[in-house]
Amino acid sequence: MLIDKGNHRHFMAKEIYEQPEVVGHTLAHYLDMANEKVLLPGRLPFDFTKINRISISACGTAYYAGLIGKYWFERFARIPVEIDVASEFRYREAPLDKGDLAIFVSQSGETADTLASLRYAKEQGQHILSIVNVATSTIARESDVVMPTLAGTEVGVASTKAFTCQLATLACLAIAAGKARGNLSAEDEQKLVHALIEIPRHMTEALKLEPAIEKLARDLSKSTDVLYLGRGTSYPMALEGALKLKEISYIHAEGYAAGELKHGPIALIDEKMPVIVIAPYDRIFEKTVSNMQEVAARGGKIILMTDPKGAREAAGEPWVTLTLPELAATVTPLVYAVPIQLLAYHTAVIMGTDVDQPRNLAKSVTVE
Ligand code: G6P
Repeated sequence: MLIDKGNHRHFMAKEIYEQPEVVGHTLAHYLDMANEKVLLPGRLPFDFTKINRISISACGTAYYAGLIGKYWFERFARIPVEIDVASEFRYREAPLDKGDLAIFVSQSGETADTLASLRYAKEQGQHILSIVNVATSTIARESDVVMPTLAGTEVGVASTKAFTCQLATLACLAIAAGKARGNLSAEDEQKLVHALIEIPRHMTEALKLEPAIEKLARDLSKSTDVLYLGRGTSYPMALEGALKLKEISYIHAEGYAAGELKHGPIALIDEKMPVIVIAPYDRIFEKTVSNMQEVAARGGKIILMTDPKGAREAAGEPWVTLTLPELAATVTPLVYAVPIQLLAYHTAVIMGTDVDQPRNLAKSVTVE
């Protein structure tokens, strides 16, 4: 199959723009859209009420998707989740109780460390569930149950659409778990599913921020270091934002839990340091605002990604505010991924790097 860039300069841009469509396809695969329910329970070969603990392993961007999944499983289903990068999980000899669930997230389904972790979990008698984009991959073949992400072929080395499809899949699974365990009522399920169904539309809205992001990228491209901050599910998004930027623009970036600011990174803040704060208006927004004030007091340049309410509440603090649509708090990562990806993309384009094939990186890491 021949894949081209369409009207885009790079595959990465094309793949960012495909997200409303492919996330929509992925959601349609796992949801009864008309009745606003998850379709999964009958399709799973294990019973969520018998699962005491979930272990998630993955690498790179897929690991950050898993980290967001942890917040969702714990919140919706009250199941404790352990998560590790696969290169650690495979060697740390984690004690796993027989009959629990191990989840592996991988675009390619071939990542060596993730596959080795899967084999370890299998030896420990876990149910093996994989979330993969390549349905014929080794990880898919060795799993008890495969949940495909319907992102289509992803060419850009820096993962974009596969990531948001992984999030869509994990959200559906976590809702199914919450429902099966009686932690979510039929009404809760309906609300969450409704919020997911709205995601593609909100992603399309978020794509309209591109001109403002391009302008911002001109400034960001002059920086040597960038800090990303977030709380709750925006914390893994801060990690993903920093990873995207460093992967393709080669600008040093770090993601931090906003509450950890005072435990180290605050020492780096000066007027040259852009700080990207990912903070949809939610129950912990005020906490993030106080972190923003700490940055502002030290002359740091704040770029805030938030929604209309957050923009009003934080007025005066940020240097630039990117205002995203108002969303249900639980599903924000899927939409905030869009400006995060576009910012890294445009910064890299300005830097003149090889966006689709960044130096030293590979799309699929099949060796240790
Ligand atoms: C490489 C890619 C990343 C990807 C990671 C995990 O580092 O460059 O984009 O997130 O591998 O790959 P996987 O195929 O397992 O998702």
